[in-house]
Amino acid sequence: MNLEDYILEHSETEPEYLAKVNRKTHVKLINPRMLSGHLQGRVLSLLCHMVQPRRMLELGTFTGYSALCMAEALPEDGVLHTIECDDELEDFIRENFAGSEVGAKIKLHIGDALKVMEQLDEVFDLVFIDADKREYLAYYEAVLPKLRPGGFILADNTLWAGKVLEKPHENDKQTIEIMHFNDFVAKDKRVEKVILPLRDGLTIIRKK
Ligand SMILES: C[S@@+](CC[C@H](N)C(=O)[O-])C[C@H]1O[C@@H](n2cnc3c(N)ncnc32)[C@H](O)[C@@H]1O
Repeated sequence: MNLEDYILEHSETEPEYLAKVNRKTHVKLINPRMLSGHLQGRVLSLLCHMVQPRRMLELGTFTGYSALCMAEALPEDGVLHTIECDDELEDFIRENFAGSEVGAKIKLHIGDALKVMEQLDEVFDLVFIDADKREYLAYYEAVLPKLRPGGFILADNTLWAGKVLEKPHENDKQTIEIMHFNDFVAKDKRVEKVILPLRDGLTIIRKK
């Protein structure tokens, strides 16, 4: 048994409705690895239960897996806005939300994350950044004013398969921008932050 199997065996099991989304994503889509998956999904759910947010935002829905995990922690009147730019995913995402008890609390927006976000007149308790890696810093600056003091940002893939340790190729905009984001957040006095070495790196940021 490897360490990851051990961790999964001794952590919360993946709820059946999410295992179904996971399986369907792997069967029907290319790049299924973009989905958060069992371990990160349970971490997202647990973190949200700890923070008890009422208003949440997610940038980058993909097939809805992480949105469902986070929505598990919402109270009856809570809402999670999630933004996805790929309109070909819309029916698949809506089907996944409809197949779960928490799906009714999730509001799906199809469009560009930065443009849609501008139109959302909400103050958020928690935001999950997981869309275009080249835009992380722009997302961060756009999200921060919409986050309540004491609110949290979770940013996914911030270790980018370890590429953040190497000198990036000049055309590798994703690595360059993730590194730029990490450097900026590390120095930003407006927030408290820590990178968790979970999966591909998950940064937890608290607005002071
Ligand atoms: C890593 S996947 C999200 C995975 C999902 N959060 C999960 O954990 O299951 C990133 C998603 O962001 C979407 N995306 C990329 N650029 C975007 C943009 N500018 N606006 C909105 N969504 C975007 C992609 O189409 C893709 O579905």
